[in-house]
Amino acid sequence: MPSLEEEFHSVIENTKQYLVQQTDLFGNIIYKEEKKEEVTMVSDEQWGKAKSLDELNKQICTCLKCPLGATRTNFVFGVGNPNADVMFIGEAPGADEDAQGEPFVGRAGQLLNKIIEAVQMKREDVYICNILKCRPPGNRDPQPTEMETCTPYLTEQIKLVKPKFIICLGRISAQWLLQTNATLGSLREKVHDYHGTKLIVTYHPAALLRNPNWKYPAWEDMKMFKKLYDELKANN
Ligand code: URA
Repeated sequence: MPSLEEEFHSVIENTKQYLVQQTDLFGNIIYKEEKKEEVTMVSDEQWGKAKSLDELNKQICTCLKCPLGATRTNFVFGVGNPNADVMFIGEAPGADEDAQGEPFVGRAGQLLNKIIEAVQMKREDVYICNILKCRPPGNRDPQPTEMETCTPYLTEQIKLVKPKFIICLGRISAQWLLQTNATLGSLREKVHDYHGTKLIVTYHPAALLRNPNWKYPAWEDMKMFKKLYDELKANN
């Protein structure tokens, strides 16, 4: 039989291991498995049956399927034209987006608006969303388990909007949607296929703010997109 002292040490050791594991998984926050509020999520039977983006948002906006639900201020669903031809997909909400409940409203968002306007479109014409609907604390990169949990929501958004083009903003969304480890550089300047939808990869606007030298290549990406878009429109 272990002595009381041995038992005490074993409890301490197990607790330490648990905390290290939690930190590896969720960063430097302690995840408490408690509900924020009384949550009504969509039932399995109703899942996939939303007829509009608003209905889908109502079904999922109380999501607590991953720890980010406990730390978010707002669920950031997506914004824009529900019948958009073009869907921009970023990575995850930042602090401004978390505060306002809308994707790309901070400095990166202001630049995204300019990028959209540079191809003679308006923010209201396109649809904008992210892979993750909740902000990772401290703006850390999304983790694969979080993206896996959140992707069914994005899939439903794509099913409802039915865009002709998806534009991935940055490496994380491109690598995740294309399920590849290829570099952003090697994914640009190509038209990929995402379950029958044309997918183009360009720099994340936040990366352009950090490194303005990438603005010219990003403009090349957008010109390639615009040419394909105009051709598609001319033939329809
Ligand atoms: N970065 C993103 O990837 N998405 C946002 O909504 C804001 C910043």
